[in-house]
Amino acid sequence: MQTRVLTGITTTGTPHLGNYVGAIRPAIEASRRDEVDAFYFMADYHALIKSDDASRIERSRLEIAASWLAAGLDPQRVTLYRQSDIPEIPELTWFLTCIASKGMLNRAHAYKAAVDRNTEIGDDADAGITAGLYMYPVLMAADILAFDANQVPVGRDQIQHIEMARDLGQRFNHLHGHAFFVLPEALIEDQVATLPGLDGRKMSKSYDNTIPLFAGGSRQLREAIMRIVTDSRLPGEPKNPENCAVFTLFRAFASEVETAAFRQALLDGIGWGEAKQVLYERIEADVAPMRERYEALMADPAAIETILQQGAQKARAVATPKLAALREVLGLRAMTTAPTPAGRPKVPSKQGKLPRFASFRDADGNFRFRLFSADGEELLLSRSFADPKAAGALQKQIRSLGAGAAELQIRPLGMSLALDGETVASTPDYRDEQARDDALAQLRDALDRLAAQE
Ligand code: TRP
Repeated sequence: MQTRVLTGITTTGTPHLGNYVGAIRPAIEASRRDEVDAFYFMADYHALIKSDDASRIERSRLEIAASWLAAGLDPQRVTLYRQSDIPEIPELTWFLTCIASKGMLNRAHAYKAAVDRNTEIGDDADAGITAGLYMYPVLMAADILAFDANQVPVGRDQIQHIEMARDLGQRFNHLHGHAFFVLPEALIEDQVATLPGLDGRKMSKSYDNTIPLFAGGSRQLREAIMRIVTDSRLPGEPKNPENCAVFTLFRAFASEVETAAFRQALLDGIGWGEAKQVLYERIEADVAPMRERYEALMADPAAIETILQQGAQKARAVATPKLAALREVLGLRAMTTAPTPAGRPKVPSKQGKLPRFASFRDADGNFRFRLFSADGEELLLSRSFADPKAAGALQKQIRSLGAGAAELQIRPLGMSLALDGETVASTPDYRDEQARDDALAQLRDALDRLAAQE
């Protein structure tokens, strides 16, 4: 069976070497494996959240498509498309919005960071924050769930979004009693290098320290490489290859043998200017043939448009029937077709089979509560509170949390639930890791069921 691997690229920038090594190259390698069914798309609706500069978004879409194709992505083999060519994505976004708990979205890192920045400078908490930023995780969940993706390769900063997509998919499946959505997993590739930029920090558009992949041609590539910050050791003085951007960049392109030779040259005191020339030539050897294809593609946007339209058709062949099935189950069917037979099984029934809380006073007279699964199994015991209102407030928070937003800390034989970094409740200790993992699944399920009621 094939694994569907899906990932999106936000179209706000020009591809740089860091994107190539960290995302483009590994994604293309993965797409060549027989067991992988790759869906790669340009997240241009997400770009609108970050930028209102239409010409920048337009340029970025073209540059990104041309870069991926020039780097060897085969549009016959993979499904390559633009988010904005798939009307099912915003449609699904709305269906998911209607079951997303606001509490979960309050906890999304990007939104929380924006609120924290406002609070820090004494501004209104939501100053300058659009509803688009707030809804970012739901749009991303729709990107993923519309296509039944099994695995989503992303950076660590995106793990929470994948958890939320799982959470929303699971919630929908529960509410409608059927596995409509595949629950996706984040794929974090730890071997993939993050490249240092010109100043030695991670290469990133937001640090303005990038080396362009194709833009500006070989001249700009060389000029950028010559600007990489180094220490002030003179030619003849040994250089330390560790923590050295020139060396790390070289290694990302070179074979082991080449890398060993370059390390030796640094230890032997090669001058920085010469070392950078060697680096430039090594990168250029890989990039030059791709750049030729890139320039040909950039000169023929109509050819790219055709490829993307064909990609959209392939993608919609999956999403259109899926959304039709969802419309049906949500009560949005055409009135000319037969209604759902009465008594269609609904798993779980909304009432009755719910997890529940039980409050009590402990021996010291403090207030605590337990959370039990629908089957009566103890899932969580809260910390103790002198003030019953505080215990009640925590219960309320847990109700709206949902598994996606829950910070669960795993111990060898149990788990703790934290809110804003503070442990607020714990599970009992379990017999073994298997029992703990089963309990974790039950707890996640219970949190989702509670949140679905909110
Ligand atoms: N948010 C992702 C990023 O900034 C881009 C993205 C949008 C994405 N939709 C996606 C990634 C769906 C994976 C799956 O990197």
